[in-house]
Amino acid sequence: MEHLELASADRELFQVYSGARRPRILLAASGSVAAIKFANLCHCFSEWAEVKAVATKASLHFIDIASLPNDVTFYTDEDEWSTWKNIGDSVLHIELRRWADIMVIAPLSANTLGKIAGGLCDNLLTCIVRAWDYSKPFFVAPAMNTLMWNNPFTERHLMTIDDLGISLIPPVTKRLACGDNGNGAMAEPSLIFSTDADARHLYNKYKHKRMVSKLDAFTWMGSVGAARRLGLHLEELWMRAERLFSYMSRLRVARKSSSLSVREPSRLL
Ligand SMILES: Cc1cc2nc3c(=O)[nH]c(=O)nc-3n(C[C@H](O)[C@H](O)[C@H](O)COP(=O)(O)O)c2cc1C
Repeated sequence: MEHLELASADRELFQVYSGARRPRILLAASGSVAAIKFANLCHCFSEWAEVKAVATKASLHFIDIASLPNDVTFYTDEDEWSTWKNIGDSVLHIELRRWADIMVIAPLSANTLGKIAGGLCDNLLTCIVRAWDYSKPFFVAPAMNTLMWNNPFTERHLMTIDDLGISLIPPVTKRLACGDNGNGAMAEPSLIFSTDADARHLYNKYKHKRMVSKLDAFTWMGSVGAARRLGLHLEELWMRAERLFSYMSRLRVARKSSSLSVREPSRLL
């Protein structure tokens, strides 16, 4: 079963490498005031990717749904239950998790951060995260008041999600919406967008079978732990790319010689 899923993930990656389809980004918002920038982020990402958006109940207080791009499907907790009626119906959080190549949570609230670190899954967003395949890129951009950011729980939770393979886009210091001055404001949408655009850039580098300058990539990840993890991601992706290239070259040989039969990639990978 695990083997089948890995093979299907490889096929999906191959489609992105080969330019057969655009990357699929699952963009999620939780209940920070920074969710007022969510529509802007959706617009940025939908310029180069297929985007589906997920919002927690609390984030709906801040998101201007009318300004979301028309081609972005927007999901809330209500959709999780309205799309499921009987045994055999698809389950939305599993479908979205399978659909996505990359996940981005911006903003990430203190509450959702704590839930992810603890493995809790009581809404659409946290169910997707609980089912996530951590070999796929996953970025979070926390946003909270400085007092929450400096609370010891934050560091504990960040260390746990770092171990899972989730990449941090650190908050910045500025005057916060509540009037306080300090760290905790969500990184600017342009930075979040370019961080993730770098992920797309990495995919493209694999497509052309070039080595990636890990040092460049490390600087935008913002922490030594994230840089170490990125290295692991790259190795994993590189291995997958190698297997696909090897399959493709065998396919070319097989086409030249009709006596050879080449099996489906799913059984070769
Ligand atoms: C006006 C207002 C602004 C808030 N801003 C933040 C924030 O910036 N960051 C944060 O972590 N929580 C913030 N909260 C608290 C969260 O909304 C609350 O913890 C909520 O339960 C988060 O739910 P969620 O994680 O499911 O989205 C705010 C609450 C209010 C009422």
